[in-house]
Amino acid sequence: METVAPSQQREAAPSTDHDSKTADDTWWRSGVIYQIYPRSFADGNGDGTGDLAGIRARLPYLKELGIDAIWYTPWYVSPLADGGYDVADYRAIDPAFGTLAEAEVLITEALELGIRTIIDIVPNHVSAQHTWFQQALNAAPGSPERARFWFHKGLGPNGDEMPTHWPNNFGGEVWSRTTNPDGTPGEWYLHLFDSQQPDLNWSNPEIIDEHEQILKFWFDRGVAGIRIDSAALLVKDPALPEIPENPGPGEHPNTDRDELHEIYRGWRAVADSYPGSRALIGEIWLPDTERFAAYLRPDELHTAFNFDFMTRAWGATNLRESIDMMLAAHEPVAAPATWVLSNHDVTRAVTRYGRSDSSFDFLKKRRGVPSDLELGTRRARAAALLTAALPGSLYIYQGDELGLPEVEDLPLDQMHDPMFFRSNGTDPGRDGCRVPLPWRGDDPPFGFSLTDDHAPAWLTPPREWARYTAARQDIDPDSMLTLYRRMLAIRRDEGSLGDGPMRWIDSERDVLAFRRGESFVNVSNLSEHPVTLPAGCVPLLSSMPLVEKPDGMTLPTDSTVWLRLTDARQHLTGEPRTA
Ligand code: NOJ
Repeated sequence: METVAPSQQREAAPSTDHDSKTADDTWWRSGVIYQIYPRSFADGNGDGTGDLAGIRARLPYLKELGIDAIWYTPWYVSPLADGGYDVADYRAIDPAFGTLAEAEVLITEALELGIRTIIDIVPNHVSAQHTWFQQALNAAPGSPERARFWFHKGLGPNGDEMPTHWPNNFGGEVWSRTTNPDGTPGEWYLHLFDSQQPDLNWSNPEIIDEHEQILKFWFDRGVAGIRIDSAALLVKDPALPEIPENPGPGEHPNTDRDELHEIYRGWRAVADSYPGSRALIGEIWLPDTERFAAYLRPDELHTAFNFDFMTRAWGATNLRESIDMMLAAHEPVAAPATWVLSNHDVTRAVTRYGRSDSSFDFLKKRRGVPSDLELGTRRARAAALLTAALPGSLYIYQGDELGLPEVEDLPLDQMHDPMFFRSNGTDPGRDGCRVPLPWRGDDPPFGFSLTDDHAPAWLTPPREWARYTAARQDIDPDSMLTLYRRMLAIRRDEGSLGDGPMRWIDSERDVLAFRRGESFVNVSNLSEHPVTLPAGCVPLLSSMPLVEKPDGMTLPTDSTVWLRLTDARQHLTGEPRTA
């Protein structure tokens, strides 16, 4: 029996080939977006830090992988107190990465290969080195320079108590105290993240105007999309109250405040004033799916990262619940869902899925938790196919296509992340998912530098990564890289994948089976035993080898297969049966 998920009874998206997809204004509804952490992707000049020259040289690799767009984590001038999310100048490229002229060339060269560019805008805060903050520090309390931020007198008779006790996203406090020119303690300033990332005051119209100008600056240079950092945090309650015990909708003093929507309507108007679709993509961590989807109304953001799926533990019931919940949440606003298995803030999928508790919590990352990497890799392969078959757009974090695990034993002198230091090392931080990619060769840093094989990389990849190099995987038909290439090639040619409807197929317990269009079927077996595949289907791609049994082909545990129904009129009457 076939069931139709009620939330998914939309018309199928028209089938398109790759070239028409790049010319297509709705590219963001189905696009495959590859996330580059520039510092760790490829080093073009031999200084051990990834850069734009390295990325330009590797564009053919990305073309072959089969992506539609690249999202760059911040590439601007930055003291790197938070890996670039502390921006000192939003209109200039950090000299360690290259120049603005080179970024313009990169945007053009990528587009010639059919790859769009998405940049990262960080509107909640700036670097403490940003001119505005330096001016504010040198200005008097109450000045227009300080009004761009949240400067505040301290509480208590001497002003030495901080204005609120809100928790910091990186651990520690959200207020730091300034020093007056005469050496006496001065006002406090707010920072929801590191003290080197002062929060901007979005109640000030100057901040709104400046960001609209920054968007235009980059849209004028051919950028096709903006990933909006910490998109739900910008607006604060100017009264600075403490956080209520159970804040109702819109009642939290620093998260998901109603005024944000007007700001994003302004951004959308800027985006819509350009030809083609300039997509706005929100980094929005909100458990309330209705509040989450409100950002995706037609005159606000285009899409937002779906973190719910990524944080869920491996398990069919759990994952199906997340899929249904997120698709249903997007339905009323007619926005496509996104599928994300990891990013530069998250423990690598291969490591997560190999742990006995494979759920993920950004604020409770764990150190020293054992992981069965063989199991994790198997599940990550299954998850890649599963998510690539679901309706919406797809994000791939650099190195996931190589199946890289988290590096959990970086020495102290290689740790950079403020999450590690601000938590006194109780949080492992995010350096372990930001280790430079292994490209070729047998020894670290595996050809990270294009000009000098021996140039040490800014973080040293482990010796075991010899088995993960792109060069080795390129010629291995069973590698993760080969799986990703095949997967994206099929997705590109298959009109029913990406945005559009899906229909669940009733199936054995712990099996996630669904149809896209008339003839495409995804079966993910998360049960503990092999399942027999329905007759009349031809396998297109499977994450593990299928096993021939007397009553048909079987799909092993923790794997996904993509199938083609051979006769488009054929209906799946039977369920995938257990072996
Ligand atoms: C979210 C980014 O993804 C993360 O890397 C960063 O540390 C915080 N926002 C603060 O900008």
